[in-house]
Amino acid sequence: MNEGIQKEALSLQRSLTEHSYRYHVLDDPIISDAEYDGMLKRLMEIEEEFPELSVPDSPTKRVGAPPLESFEKAVHSVPMLSLDNAFNDQDVLEFHKRILRLTGQEGIYIAEPKLDGVAVELRYENGTLVRAATRGDGVTGEVITQNARTIRSVPLKLKEDKLKAPALLEVRGEVIIRKSDFEKLNQTRLENGESIFANPRNAAAGSLRQLDSKATAKRPLDIFVYGTGLVKGLEFKSHSAMLEILQGFGFPVNPNIGTGLSIAGILSAYKEFEALREGLPYEIDGMVIKVDDIALQRQLGEKIKSPRWAVAYKFSAQEKTTTIKDIVVQVGRTGVLTPVAILEPVNIGGAMVSRATLHNEDEIRRKDIRIGDKALVKRAGDVIPKIVKIFETERKGTEIPFEMPLQCPVCMSRIEKLKLDRSWVNKCVNASCQAQFKERIRHFVSKKAFDMEGLGRKIVDQLVEEGMIRSFVDVFTLEKEKLSGLERQAEKSAANLTEAIEKSKKISLPRFLYALGIQHTGENSAKLISQQFSSLDDIMAASVTDLESIHGIGPETASAVHGFFSNAENQAVIRQLLEAGVEIQNDRPQSPEPLDSPFYQKRVVLTGTLAAMARSEAQAMLEATGAVVTSSVSAKTDFLIAGADAGSKLDKARKAGVRILDETEFLAMVRQS
Ligand code: IVH
Repeated sequence: MNEGIQKEALSLQRSLTEHSYRYHVLDDPIISDAEYDGMLKRLMEIEEEFPELSVPDSPTKRVGAPPLESFEKAVHSVPMLSLDNAFNDQDVLEFHKRILRLTGQEGIYIAEPKLDGVAVELRYENGTLVRAATRGDGVTGEVITQNARTIRSVPLKLKEDKLKAPALLEVRGEVIIRKSDFEKLNQTRLENGESIFANPRNAAAGSLRQLDSKATAKRPLDIFVYGTGLVKGLEFKSHSAMLEILQGFGFPVNPNIGTGLSIAGILSAYKEFEALREGLPYEIDGMVIKVDDIALQRQLGEKIKSPRWAVAYKFSAQEKTTTIKDIVVQVGRTGVLTPVAILEPVNIGGAMVSRATLHNEDEIRRKDIRIGDKALVKRAGDVIPKIVKIFETERKGTEIPFEMPLQCPVCMSRIEKLKLDRSWVNKCVNASCQAQFKERIRHFVSKKAFDMEGLGRKIVDQLVEEGMIRSFVDVFTLEKEKLSGLERQAEKSAANLTEAIEKSKKISLPRFLYALGIQHTGENSAKLISQQFSSLDDIMAASVTDLESIHGIGPETASAVHGFFSNAENQAVIRQLLEAGVEIQNDRPQSPEPLDSPFYQKRVVLTGTLAAMARSEAQAMLEATGAVVTSSVSAKTDFLIAGADAGSKLDKARKAGVRILDETEFLAMVRQS
């Protein structure tokens, strides 16, 4: 082997490591995926020919190694403890009282998200990853080094830009799978006829326990580190200083960490984590409170299973077990039948849950859900509760499998089976089915449409059943007297409702368009169409080609909109609405002439934090120059405006070749228009 080859291999190993770090840890790549792949391919060729150059920390080791027969056991040098749980403020206050009594100090806490993944320990000797192990029972775990090497954000070698690697460093952290990666993973498994994972934690655990690390390499695993085990040749003054040092060595450390917190700060941090939870790209199940100072930690010491200096403040459970009492069929706005599980009511995270959607027949069959089954039910934020899994072992034999009705359960019309977005659905063929009509009215008055507060589910049911609402326009002619006569409708709320109805008559064009409930026309399409045409008349007169020429409007939406407005009955409904006093306000910003603004008719996405203004202000500014601001990046996006800490959208935009503007460039361009 000549020296040139050796040099080339070393240089490729170095730069691939650096680029992988920029991509997976910093979320800030500076070369394209293709360039990276090209370099990796070259390195693989060299290492194949000269195996002695294939060192354990070479980036080529990320793809997996020959399969194992079984996992070796590993005894942890320092036991991996668990944490005591706190479930309410009271529990946390008691934790704090103890700490205060023992240390006499205030403002000493650090708050971290409690990541819902799998704990691992990574051992580095003189900067090189030599062993990875699961937590196991805390004393003994399993050796999963080959698998850990496939996790792209796990450094195979410590970065030594700031500090020299110590002789020994054991780093602990949580291996996770991001929510979006989890969805994709399950989707692929479904398509391949494999069983799906119940949640990202199970998926991460299953992926780490593969005897064949090539299988692990295909799983989208990631890690955040939050602690150390045995360390030789390095000392930390505080937990926060340790995290900073670990970050310097190239480990991903969670960005949402609060330091120097008092007990009041801790309680408000918990509220912030609760609010953050839904929007985070990975699952967290609480907050971990730790005493920051290491000397104080030592003073406080530990119990057998858990330290006295930390506690996990758990979120209230989002999953509970209950019984499926019945499965009923709900008829949607477009006639699609959705089976719904009627549950023995349970309190999940502070809300009573008594129904869960079962999506469609296929889903019921796939999960083999039967009436009478015990089921794990999940509620995530304001999303409709769903069934995670059923407990087959709890079956008594009296459970009844579900059969899709052959007729619409409401109007008894024929049911048609058709394919919608890749899955089969059952649809009631009768467009005047009362159930469909109720849903159309619900949509019409909903928050994003006419926004009639007080016209809830039950009242709509009643009004339709009593014949007081037979078409959209009837909503506007509801009289106070008639309303207060309704069951459960006091006079005061009847007055409030009529007032809300009156107020709702002034409506923007996009909301109006959305309220009509035209197929394939959601909020965003309604906005795009309204931006293009200045009035409802123009939209009604538009041809399919006119509509299709709008950036972001596909052929299905274009023909649905055109079809809707060509229908004489629908035209009559619109006339009636206008006669009843509905006033469509075209609040479309007066778009400047095309040449005036570089953003005119361009699709723009905002991400990250802007220093100069709130995101909503930036959006308003962009819209005023004729831009269409959307929330997700696709190949059709023209610009991505990236503020500080931009994350996955920036990534996606880069891959899609979308033009990226930082805040300064963005402001300069706005000023120019
Ligand atoms: S510290 C002695 N920090 O929670 C300290 N643990 O119940 C022990 N976990 O096994 C761990 N996020 O899997 C710590 N920010 C965090 C954590 C965290 C999640 C998990 C970890 C641990 C379990 C303890």
